[in-house]
Amino acid sequence: MIRVESAEVVYPNGTRALNRTDVEFAGGAFTVLLGASGAGKSTLLRTLNGLVAPSTGRVVVESGDLRNGRRLRVHRRRTGMIFQQHQLIGRLTVLANVLIGRLGYHTTLRTCLGFSASEKRLALEAIERVDLIAYALRRADQLSGGQQQRVGIARALVQQPSLILADEPIASLDPATADRVLGLLHSICKADGITAVVSLHQLEFARRYADRVVGLANGAIVFDGPPGKLGAAQVTAIYGGTTRVIDDSQQTELGPMEHRLKTGTYA
Ligand SMILES: Nc1ncnc2c1ncn2[C@@H]1O[C@H](COP(=O)(O)OP(=O)(O)OP(=O)(O)O)[C@@H](O)[C@H]1O
Ligand SMILES: [Mg+2]
Repeated sequence: MIRVESAEVVYPNGTRALNRTDVEFAGGAFTVLLGASGAGKSTLLRTLNGLVAPSTGRVVVESGDLRNGRRLRVHRRRTGMIFQQHQLIGRLTVLANVLIGRLGYHTTLRTCLGFSASEKRLALEAIERVDLIAYALRRADQLSGGQQQRVGIARALVQQPSLILADEPIASLDPATADRVLGLLHSICKADGITAVVSLHQLEFARRYADRVVGLANGAIVFDGPPGKLGAAQVTAIYGGTTRVIDDSQQTELGPMEHRLKTGTYA
């Protein structure tokens, strides 16, 4: 369980990225965050991982407030992060990249001594689960984008996470690969009971995979409910009046990010 209580995030330059927000994530639910560019999705995810400290309010886990340094360390150790740019080290093998997920469990001294046999076994199991065992000893930069993102999932899994935070994990993948990678992440989270919070720009994927959708606009939650309740009015509340909704029950057409940025629309 992780709960954001009356949290506001104001960046040092004065940008208010999150208005007073209360939200809780728990129980192995797969939650998708939706929102236009700048709505505050990444800020909320960073707040959940303690990378950004709320200016007011607080973030609490079962054991208490994340302002406690030790509690924050333990929380981060059990929180897998997955990013759009998978942030792998290209010259290292897949196995070495996955083992990086274990570093939170090491003291500096133990890291010098290397990873234990049981950690290597854990890493190989994670690589097996994302169907990359044949690539375990390949350099990460020799893999395709979708394969690299699966390495990112394995690196999160090796942390034995109770929470996975993914910030646009499929944004740079083609639609079929995106579906495969997100489907894999979803099925692993469900099998292991991992609570997941995943930001996406594709409504159709939110509808396919989310147990719950949280919609953000201008740093505030404007929708929180099951994807089945996400109709035209809710989509408009999330994306503003510029989203073109084809059909209430069908997907809303959202073009690639670049197109939307270029045209300034969400059509
Ligand atoms: N480090 C930062 N310093 C100052 N302002 C920031 C910083 N990071 C984000 N912002 C601002 O905070 C607001 C929310 O940004 P955030 O990155 O959370 O949005 P987002 O929903 O993730 O957008 P995108 O879909 O483009 O990734 C925006 O106005 C953004 O410009
Ligand atoms: Mg973002």
